[in-house]
Amino acid sequence: MQEFKLNNANGLRMIVSDYGGIVRELHAPDRNGEFADVVLGFDTMKEYGSDSPYFGALIGRYGNRIGKGTFSIDGTDYNLAINNGENHLHGGLVGFDKVLWDTQSIEGAGFTGIRMHRVSADGEEGYPGNLDVTITYKLTDDNEWIIDYEATTDKPTVVSLTQHTYFNLSGHASGSCLDHEAIINADHFTPVDESLIPIGTLELVEGTPFDFRERQPIGTRIDSGHDQMKRGGGYDHNFALNKSQSGALERAAFIIDPSSGRTLETLTTEPGAQFYSGNFLDGTAKGKGGAAYNRRSGFCVETQRFPDSPNQASFPSSRLNPGETYRSTTVYRFGVDS
Ligand code: GLA
Repeated sequence: MQEFKLNNANGLRMIVSDYGGIVRELHAPDRNGEFADVVLGFDTMKEYGSDSPYFGALIGRYGNRIGKGTFSIDGTDYNLAINNGENHLHGGLVGFDKVLWDTQSIEGAGFTGIRMHRVSADGEEGYPGNLDVTITYKLTDDNEWIIDYEATTDKPTVVSLTQHTYFNLSGHASGSCLDHEAIINADHFTPVDESLIPIGTLELVEGTPFDFRERQPIGTRIDSGHDQMKRGGGYDHNFALNKSQSGALERAAFIIDPSSGRTLETLTTEPGAQFYSGNFLDGTAKGKGGAAYNRRSGFCVETQRFPDSPNQASFPSSRLNPGETYRSTTVYRFGVDS
């Protein structure tokens, strides 16, 4: 196991492990230029293997849930590992967050980074095809953490790769993130059933707690009693992003921490993003420096194909065929709001 330190010209820095591609620290400046570590995590890598709710980690082969862990391709049924009630979540029992990646440092004009590579064997966690995966992280002098995902397969399969970093822009140990404000670039979200599998429709955000088209505090409507909010225990939903064209690298979300002034913009080529308000955090995991990460003390913006799309014909396809290359880019851009 090895850790890599990335730095940019403005003092931003991150520490990344080749285990799960985990981002263990990420330091960004506030409006006064004071740096804080804004990602939740552990002091040692050992805890990531056992106690982690995917802190900082890469997720694959399929971010989010696949209903009952089954799907079929061209008439063949596949059964995946079941690890979340009756469903498959975040790639299964040993997903991309719990494996070692072949990792090397990379450098170019205006960035430092790492390239991670791994072949996920045919049948791993139940998925078909040998999946050859390359993921790069770049930390740029424009204060961006850029993630590029690429994958090829030798059998038709399904893929949706993402990153599960929990952010708290006041600093990882600052408690609730409900005072952060959010803009989410989506007119629709995908409502879910009791086990958090999309029911297959797109629902308008208008008039619901999911309307973040104008800047809103995360916390104002989170306990509003809206049926979907009860199912998720808060925000744990896929937003169907507004796109000028399919695959365009465009804003998914913009999160502002009014107290520190730190901002985080997420851009993605993906059609969806899961906005998760850390509802399952319960303070039991001993975080960095002894921090107790209580409920809703961090948020994730997990860019993705839609959850369960292998079983939902009307959702954007997650199928990858031999001869094709899966490509996905997400940018987390740090800034300050004056
Ligand atoms: C995702 C899921 C959540 C939860 C977290 C990890 O965001 O959608 O329901 O599983 O990961 O706890």
